[in-house]
Amino acid sequence: MKEKILVTGGTGYIGSHTAVELINSGYEVVIVDDLSNSQYEVLDGIEKITGTRPVFAEFDLCDERALTDFFAQHGDIKAIIHFAASKAVGESVQKPLLYYKNNILSLILLLEAMQRLGIANIVFSSSCTVYGQPDQLPVTEATPFKPAESPYGNTKQVGEEILRDNCRAVPATQAISLRYFNPVGAHASALIGELPQGVPGNLVPFITQTAAGIREQLLVFGKDYDTPDGSAMRDYIHVVDLAKAHVIAVQRLLSGQQKSNYEFFNLGTGKGLTVLEIIEVFERVNNLKLNYKIVDRRPGDIEKIYADTALANQELHWRTELGVEEMMRSAWKWQQHILKNA
Ligand code: NAD
Ligand code: WQD
Repeated sequence: MKEKILVTGGTGYIGSHTAVELINSGYEVVIVDDLSNSQYEVLDGIEKITGTRPVFAEFDLCDERALTDFFAQHGDIKAIIHFAASKAVGESVQKPLLYYKNNILSLILLLEAMQRLGIANIVFSSSCTVYGQPDQLPVTEATPFKPAESPYGNTKQVGEEILRDNCRAVPATQAISLRYFNPVGAHASALIGELPQGVPGNLVPFITQTAAGIREQLLVFGKDYDTPDGSAMRDYIHVVDLAKAHVIAVQRLLSGQQKSNYEFFNLGTGKGLTVLEIIEVFERVNNLKLNYKIVDRRPGDIEKIYADTALANQELHWRTELGVEEMMRSAWKWQQHILKNA
């Protein structure tokens, strides 16, 4: 019998890639998503890639009755990967209550349901945003959190604290928080990828939309950062490498390999790249010229961050396999797929 894994937010960007990797690793995947930031057709992409259509339940995880009804049918779930959350940093400043409600309430209701049903295992989507601008680079898991820059960032800090406290209080619970750096790229098939709504706030979707002619010009925010070329530096990670780390985290929970019942890991490549370096790679591998202009810093942006990945390498036996060229190639292939199917 295949072990059943609940993927919340499984039609979203990272969730859909993780669903593919879970199915390919022999798990049964059940997706819950309210489609507030994704589309039903993503299930077709997952099915085309894997040959298996995941079970899908459309509801809001903050709807406690719907959650109870769902678990009445799926009490045999062995582990949960909790991706579902609102994630737009700027919007969270405008609508903090929406972010606190959606991101925190959904987590609490899930943890309560797990306790009621005796489901022990959860993997939580955290973010490098919990570190703010660290005093030392690369950032290790021991690097202290800085006060959150946004309500969104705060939901990730509080989410981790809720998990830690709950693991202390309920020793049967096992949790892993994964702190993603900057996920980019798409599945090599170009059948699933990132589907930003409206004007993208993130760099890579803005690059691909500019190359596609949807946006006139990319603005590169900042030219006087303390980096080799003055533009800001991030640790970009291929979404498929990130998805594979989730499968490993689930296996770790299911096989009882945890060192303590609450663990947290950085997921990045360990290498910082500047905005201008990303543009250079995008242009080179896709044989394109991008219309861009260097302008002032974006308020709230940090200068540079990249991960120390030693803990994830050693404990999870996980390493990134796909480099920045593959990130930029797959991102552009995905953008072309969207254009063709629009
Ligand atoms: P996404 O928006 O593509 O996916 C999230 C999915 O959750 C969406 O399909 C959305 O419809 C669903 N959802 C949201 N609220 C819901 C609710 N109440 N009930 C049911 N479904 C709900 O985002 P993503 O980029 O795939 O991010 C996944 C997770 O990773 C999020 O928790 C995000 O905060 C975290 N994260 C993302 C990044 C990034 O840059 N993409 C970086 C670090 C952490
Ligand atoms: C990357 C770099 C921009 C757009 C955000 C969230 C963070 C995390 C990841 C979830 C920066 C520059 C961008 C543009 C640009 N998400 N840029 N022109 O800021 O590292 O982090 O996503 O947890 O919480 O804050 O990612 O993709 O927005 O920006 O020059 O049009 O690209 O200034 O240096 P960021 P990003």
